[in-house]
Amino acid sequence: MKLSSAISLALALWASKSAQQHVQFDLKQGLPIDKTGLRPRLAQRATTYAETLINNITDAGYYAKVYVGTPGQEITMLFDTGSSDTWVVGYRADLCINPTSQQLRAGLTCMDVYNPNNSTTYKLVRRGGFAIKYIDGSTASGDYISDNLSIGGANITSLQIGYAIRVPRGFSIMGVGFSANVATRQKYPNIIDQLYTQGLVSSKAYSLYLNDQRADSGTILFGGLDTDKFIGPLTVLPILKAAFTTANYTSFEVSFSGLSLNFTNGTTSKITTPELTASLPAILDSGTTLSYLPDSIALPIYDALGAVVDTVHNLAFVDCDLLRSEPNLTITFTFGSDNSNTVSVAVPGRDMILDVLDGYPVAGIAFARICLLGIQSISGFEASETFNNFALLGGTFLRSAYVVYDLDHNEIGLAQANLNSTISNIIELKANASDSSSGSGTGLPKVTGVRAQQTTSNPTSTSGPRTSSGGGGSGGGSGGSETSGLPTVTVTVGAQNAAGGRAIGTPGDDVLAVMAITLCFALVGAALL
Ligand SMILES: *[C@@H]1O[C@H](CO)[C@@H](O)[C@H](O)[C@H]1NC(C)=O
Ligand SMILES: *[C@@H]1O[C@H](CO)[C@@H](O)[C@H](O)[C@H]1NC(C)=O
Ligand SMILES: *[C@@H]1O[C@H](CO)[C@@H](O)[C@H](O)[C@H]1NC(C)=O
Ligand SMILES: *[C@@H]1O[C@H](CO)[C@@H](O)[C@H](O)[C@H]1NC(C)=O
Ligand SMILES: *[C@@H]1O[C@H](CO)[C@@H](O)[C@H](O)[C@H]1NC(C)=O
Ligand SMILES: *[C@@H]1O[C@H](CO)[C@@H](O)[C@H](O)[C@H]1NC(C)=O
Ligand SMILES: *[C@@H]1O[C@H](CO)[C@@H](O)[C@H](O)[C@H]1NC(C)=O
Ligand SMILES: *[C@@H]1O[C@H](CO)[C@@H](O)[C@H](O)[C@H]1NC(C)=O
Ligand SMILES: *[C@@H]1O[C@H](CO)[C@@H](O)[C@H](O)[C@H]1NC(C)=O
Ligand SMILES: *[C@@H]1O[C@H](CO)[C@@H](O)[C@H](O)[C@H]1NC(C)=O
Ligand SMILES: *[C@@H]1O[C@H](CO)[C@@H](O)[C@H](O)[C@H]1NC(C)=O
Repeated sequence: MKLSSAISLALALWASKSAQQHVQFDLKQGLPIDKTGLRPRLAQRATTYAETLINNITDAGYYAKVYVGTPGQEITMLFDTGSSDTWVVGYRADLCINPTSQQLRAGLTCMDVYNPNNSTTYKLVRRGGFAIKYIDGSTASGDYISDNLSIGGANITSLQIGYAIRVPRGFSIMGVGFSANVATRQKYPNIIDQLYTQGLVSSKAYSLYLNDQRADSGTILFGGLDTDKFIGPLTVLPILKAAFTTANYTSFEVSFSGLSLNFTNGTTSKITTPELTASLPAILDSGTTLSYLPDSIALPIYDALGAVVDTVHNLAFVDCDLLRSEPNLTITFTFGSDNSNTVSVAVPGRDMILDVLDGYPVAGIAFARICLLGIQSISGFEASETFNNFALLGGTFLRSAYVVYDLDHNEIGLAQANLNSTISNIIELKANASDSSSGSGTGLPKVTGVRAQQTTSNPTSTSGPRTSSGGGGSGGGSGGSETSGLPTVTVTVGAQNAAGGRAIGTPGDDVLAVMAITLCFALVGAALL
């Protein structure tokens, strides 16, 4: 079943029941991460900008707070390396004002909304020109407009963005991919282009540090990289065009060449498939919550972990007991097809075994407590039939990695993340620098991070509380207290009975668990509706 139809089905179930219970996909834990010290301590003008990415809003996805218009309207946006358009939820968007739209989306409403009437710098670029489609089939559409946008202290003038009046979810998205992949034939300079063109940064490059799952936030650093945030050398890999075979670079894909599971008893199980041997394009997408692999790789992992697939929703689940029985499980992803230039990122088992269902059962699955697996099959997506095989590595992978996205040189710098880092050592990236210590005309600099994972883990916040809930949304009751006002994307897992788990409700009642899973990857071409 296609994932998009799984979602529709789930929502239909939702609408037909009255006494449901909601469970959020709750990744939020721990303390906010220190944001101070992220500004470069350079003698010259600061040309890197850091912004905190909060991941405790919908409990899926990483969000940046930006200001759009004059005076600035505060908008919290999903930070998405898997698409290229930045767009805002318009104040008159269907989901924000229409109770029927809200009902259809399980009572969801809008978070922050943008009102062009309140901005003196708003300009209409193309009425009806904006329409984007994501891999889960969801779409957003409206006008292309331009307005000022400020992020992390970087003020961009007259940025072209989408002004959405039909939205699938109540939050805005900042797509930071290649402008070759904007969702319109009339290509335009996107936010990454404009940060560079307007002289705010010296390179179309940024570094992503999502940080520990148990921390509330990560960091995006535009125009630089931070050597305190990763371990060992930063391996530089070329960005590929393989998966979509287009003339231009359109997505952040690198060569994925190995996967192994290290169990607590010391055994290693290497997954060997022709795809991995030949190298598979893997897209590093911050807008996608889980990680999606072709069946040839996903199924052996399911076997190794005793995962069970709920075929109705095409989701794989594992026994939460693995968290106890396999405390040192790691899943190691290796990249690079050239033997002299490979890098491995080890993801701890606890980041892939997601205890997000709060003990609720899923029909037909008999584990005492059911956990969602952070690796899923990509075979449910239409795109995997249309395009060559590829992997989509989202938050469950990216949290363990430090990723430098260099759109000037079509390269990705990759290393194991140094989690909970509280200090910074920022190197500015320059598109044309002659000095090789800070990037060069030919690529990312050769840099090395810290020697090992730091052991102190008590980050402190001196940046003060960051308010994260948007007040802009209008009206509409939400489905339950846990999701109240939250702009979650819901994939609902229905259950008829306790199936060996703890019994909930009377037999025959559906128990619906809501997990927020975002899948904001915009396929090249597919975006052109
Ligand atoms: C990072 O900090 C959180 C608390 O904020 C802690 O739970 C976690 O174990 C730390 N991670 C590491 C790798 O030390
Ligand atoms: C501004 O508000 C008026 C009504 O108050 C509305 O008709 C108009 O479409 C709005 N302008 C934009 C750009 O939304
Ligand atoms: C912006 O417009 C909204 C109506 O959509 C209004 O409620 C609000 O007060 C306005 N804000 C400002 C600062 O003018
Ligand atoms: C950027 O804009 C904000 C208001 O949106 C303003 O407070 C700040 O001074 C501006 N910064 C620069 C460098 O112009
Ligand atoms: C907003 O854009 C205008 C031009 O459209 C520019 O003059 C102004 O300085 C910008 N404001 C900020 C805060 O960047
Ligand atoms: C880099 O070089 C190009 C072409 O030589 C030039 O247009 C651009 O302004 C330079 N950028 C910087 C940051 O020096
Ligand atoms: C590729 O990029 C070039 C230069 O930006 C542009 O002229 C061309 O139309 C692009 N091709 C596609 C297929 O998008
Ligand atoms: C996994 O096991 C292999 C072989 O025993 C070892 O070389 C590797 O360092 C281990 N990786 C991790 C992350 O423990
Ligand atoms: C180690 O644990 C794995 C996973 O439970 C199991 O498949 C394997 O047989 C075990 N190896 C040994 C030597 O016990
Ligand atoms: C897991 O790894 C830690 C650190 O290497 C070690 O101290 C502990 O004994 C391991 N646990 C098991 C069950 O092997
Ligand atoms: C999210 O985390 C921020 C700090 O990063 C905190 O100020 C805020 O209260 C948290 N929000 C929720 C809903 O927990």
